[in-house]
Amino acid sequence: MGMEKVLGKKMKRKLRHKKVTAVQKLYDTCREVFSTCGPGIVPTADGIERLKVILNEMTELDVGVRPSMPYFKVKESGGFPKITYLHLSECDKFSIGIFLLPPSGVLPLHNHPQMTVFSKLLFGTMHIKAYDWVDDVASIPTLKADSSEGEIVPVSVRLAKLKVNSDFTAPCDTSILYPTDGGNMHCFTAITACAVLDVLGPPYCDPEGRHCQYYRAHPFTSLSVDKKLPDDEKTENYAWLEEIDKPAGLSVVGALYNGPKIIEK
Ligand SMILES: [Fe+2]
Repeated sequence: MGMEKVLGKKMKRKLRHKKVTAVQKLYDTCREVFSTCGPGIVPTADGIERLKVILNEMTELDVGVRPSMPYFKVKESGGFPKITYLHLSECDKFSIGIFLLPPSGVLPLHNHPQMTVFSKLLFGTMHIKAYDWVDDVASIPTLKADSSEGEIVPVSVRLAKLKVNSDFTAPCDTSILYPTDGGNMHCFTAITACAVLDVLGPPYCDPEGRHCQYYRAHPFTSLSVDKKLPDDEKTENYAWLEEIDKPAGLSVVGALYNGPKIIEK
């Protein structure tokens, strides 16, 4: 009888050992779902659903992140609070990582060229503002007043439509953006400390032309460009996006992921 008990315990331990962690399930599913994808080629509806279901259930506990970690402390020095990036996995088909933002942390407006991106807020409250291009036209050269000198300087802008502009508080569903829809250019502003799990397919890749471009948004009415919106459209739902260099104050620092291990295949 004693022996039985011991065996039972051993079996249980074995079973517990075999339980697949959420990050492993996420990784394994990414391997399957993104296998047939590529730049500009989005996963199937079924694949998107499978990833969504896994991500919707995930919390910071699944990745070993805690709001008490020093990454979420705001330094008194002023300027942009530092953002931390935890790298979980990357191959040529997809990448998985987590952004840790202290309160007031900002990931400025940037794009995801030819990618499908799943963003799951693990904890906290974050404001997301996201745009899509209105059309494929090349940039429209225009003029704006240079604020420092009062001079008129030429800028290149492209019309974009606002797709998302609201606060998200965890637990909430995964947001998904696509190459040309769902808010491919987005900006994250942390209202409280927050953590976002990001799955990108395919990943950024400079040699392949998938470079992270930053933008400055100009209100639609602030530039005198000869462009008419349809009558039923509000001007506040549109903006001119100007390509800019990576903002000088932006600091995203890599840190070691210490959560449950992913066995890469
Ligand atoms: Fe992003």
